[in-house]
Amino acid sequence: MYIPAEDSYLLAEAIEDYSGEYALEIGVGSGIVLDKLCDSFSFVIGTDTHFNSLIYCLNNLSKAVTLVCCDAASALAAKFDLIVSNPPYLPQDNIGITDSTIYGGLYGSELVLHFIRSSISLLDVGGKILVVLSDLSNIVQINSFTEEMNLGVKIVGKKKIFFETLYVYEISHKF
Ligand SMILES: C[S@@+](CC[C@H](N)C(=O)[O-])C[C@H]1O[C@@H](n2cnc3c(N)ncnc32)[C@H](O)[C@@H]1O
Repeated sequence: MYIPAEDSYLLAEAIEDYSGEYALEIGVGSGIVLDKLCDSFSFVIGTDTHFNSLIYCLNNLSKAVTLVCCDAASALAAKFDLIVSNPPYLPQDNIGITDSTIYGGLYGSELVLHFIRSSISLLDVGGKILVVLSDLSNIVQINSFTEEMNLGVKIVGKKKIFFETLYVYEISHKF
C-alpha cells in the first residue's frame, strides 16, 4: 500500500477549496485523501486496483464511503462534482523494479492519461478533476492531450521537494 507522502498532502490541501454532493477518488491508497473529501462532499466513492488498500480503508476510515475494486473509473456510471487522483506518475525505471503505486508507464504520463480518459465523461456540469503531476513525468504529453480534448487547465497547487516539483492540475470542460 502507498504510504502517504508529499503528493498525498498536496492533493488533500487542494481539496479544501472544493465542495459539493458527489466526489470520486481514483487510486485511494491508505484513504488519506478520501477522508478529506468526506469533509466537504455528501457522497464519496473511491477506487483502487490494490484490494488490500481498499480493505485498509474499510477498516480505518470512520466516515461512510463506497469503495470499488476496479481499474480507474471503469466500473462507475454516476456523475461527480469533483474527481481527484494522485496517480502513479513516475516514469518506469529501467532496472526492473515494478511498483504499481508509483510508476505510471514508460513516460510516467500513461496512467495519468488513462485515469483522465476513464473519468472525464463522469464529470457533472461544472465539475472538476484534480490530478497530481510531477515534472518527472511527461507533462508535455498531458498538456497536448488536454489541448486536443479542448479541456480547461489551471494549476491549483505546487510544491518543490528535493528531487521534483509537484503540481495539482484542475481540469474541466470549457463552456
Ligand atoms: C500514488 S498512490 C496514491 C494513494 C493515495 N491516494 C495517496 O495520495 O496517498 C496511487 C494509487 O493508485 C492505485 N492504482 C494504480 N493503478 C490503478 C488503476 N489502474 N486503477 C485504480 N487505481 C490504481 C495504486 O494502487 C495506489 O493506491
